[in-house]
Amino acid sequence: MRERASDQPQSSLSAVTGQPVRGWREILDTLATRRSCRDFDGSSIDRDILAEIVRDGTEAPSSCNQQQWHFIIVDDRDMLRRAHDISGGNHHFAECSALIFLCFQKGWTHGNFSVVQSVAGACYHMMLSAHLRGFSCIWNAGIGDKDALAEMLGVPAIFEIQGALAIGRARPTAPDMKAPRRPFAQVHSWNGFSRPDSSVYPVADAPAYPYFAIRNDENPFAIWDPTRWSWEQVGDFRGYSVWAKSPLAGVYVSRRQGAATEAELSLLPDLSDGARVVELMPWGGTYSVELRRRLAPGVELHLAELSEANLSFIVERFRQEGLSLDHVRPDLIEGAQLPYQDASVDAVVSPQVLEQMPDPEAMLDEVQRVLKPGGSLVISVRNLDSAYGGLWQKVESKAQVPNQGPFTPLSASHVRGWLADRFHIDTETGIGQEESRDATTVSGSESLTCRLYAARCLKR
Ligand SMILES: Cc1cc2nc3c(=O)[nH]c(=O)nc-3n(C[C@H](O)[C@H](O)[C@H](O)COP(=O)(O)O)c2cc1C
Repeated sequence: MRERASDQPQSSLSAVTGQPVRGWREILDTLATRRSCRDFDGSSIDRDILAEIVRDGTEAPSSCNQQQWHFIIVDDRDMLRRAHDISGGNHHFAECSALIFLCFQKGWTHGNFSVVQSVAGACYHMMLSAHLRGFSCIWNAGIGDKDALAEMLGVPAIFEIQGALAIGRARPTAPDMKAPRRPFAQVHSWNGFSRPDSSVYPVADAPAYPYFAIRNDENPFAIWDPTRWSWEQVGDFRGYSVWAKSPLAGVYVSRRQGAATEAELSLLPDLSDGARVVELMPWGGTYSVELRRRLAPGVELHLAELSEANLSFIVERFRQEGLSLDHVRPDLIEGAQLPYQDASVDAVVSPQVLEQMPDPEAMLDEVQRVLKPGGSLVISVRNLDSAYGGLWQKVESKAQVPNQGPFTPLSASHVRGWLADRFHIDTETGIGQEESRDATTVSGSESLTCRLYAARCLKR
């Protein structure tokens, strides 16, 4: 390894001149092109280089200069695979060249999380070093069972494993996109706090929000009821936080996929080339690609979504899945207003999204308006009057609002009433009688007690 500035006598450190470093703009522009990679090619990186990257990170400042950090570099393939298994879904852990486990010693500089801030600074410095050297990275707080990791790595109990930095070479086919940044004006202010309402999310009224009273799995201030959010807030939330995921083919398929999706999609009417189908508020694209596969190639699929950022994510997902975009139309919507003419759409698909809307009845009115006479609404909702509804009330809704946005299961009999007011209900299906996952289907009045209530409705 080459000698570095900090190995040399103090006198040889270059003075801070007050003048910009030559090429500073280019350096910053290059740093700004860094983006997370979740699709590595499985190759290895020379240990000297990995050590240099980690060492670059140790140039970061640390609280009280205590440098209570420790970085465990894992480049052993079997251990990487084990780390992947422990993480429970980070497939990039098995394919990166190395994982740098970010640890710190507990007991010093805990105030304001100084020790955590210090390790974070070092990690980002490593990312920039790796980026400038032509490698790709991803920082992961989601690493799975820390006890299992501590055992694998022999980390003593007084050290905390805070996260892991995966470094490697991106596969040539890795998604070529960077997650969008909020408009700068939204995230800064001068000499005081100011921020647009749409980017401050609703929370329960309280005199204070003590940090340690809020956990991911137990958040007393979270508001899951979307009718207390504005459409702009819901769009903002979905547009940015969805980027925690990657538009890679086949990954991050949600639990609602699989057998339940099959049951939902089986309600689609026959549609031939030239027909127009609208999917309402698609989330990360996992459902949209299934829908696309199900439709005839010449059917126009409109993706009616609240957030531009989310749409570009979904479009990349289509590319990654090898699906043509020829008959896919990403359409931005404003609230419950659909950008389609009266009686111009053959089918609307609304898979478990009515319960994510600030004003579900206004959206059903819009669906009624845009459907052609005889056109179909294929809809499913998570049912409050079911075992799942109980689980949601007792457990799920106590946690923080999930990345796809706030939602509250709706009573199937209420939804049936809303549908009957506007449409002819042609077919009803109940999906799943157990709290979760189960996707057995039933029909008739029993459908009102299942986890999901699904229906095909026709415009009269
Ligand atoms: C502290 C921290 C923790 C993160 N944890 C995860 C993670 O567990 N899983 C993941 O896929 N991405 C994770 N990320 C990556 C972010 O999703 C990513 O940085 C963000 O979407 C912005 O994208 P960009 O890095 O391409 O600019 C994490 C990032 C940070 C800074």
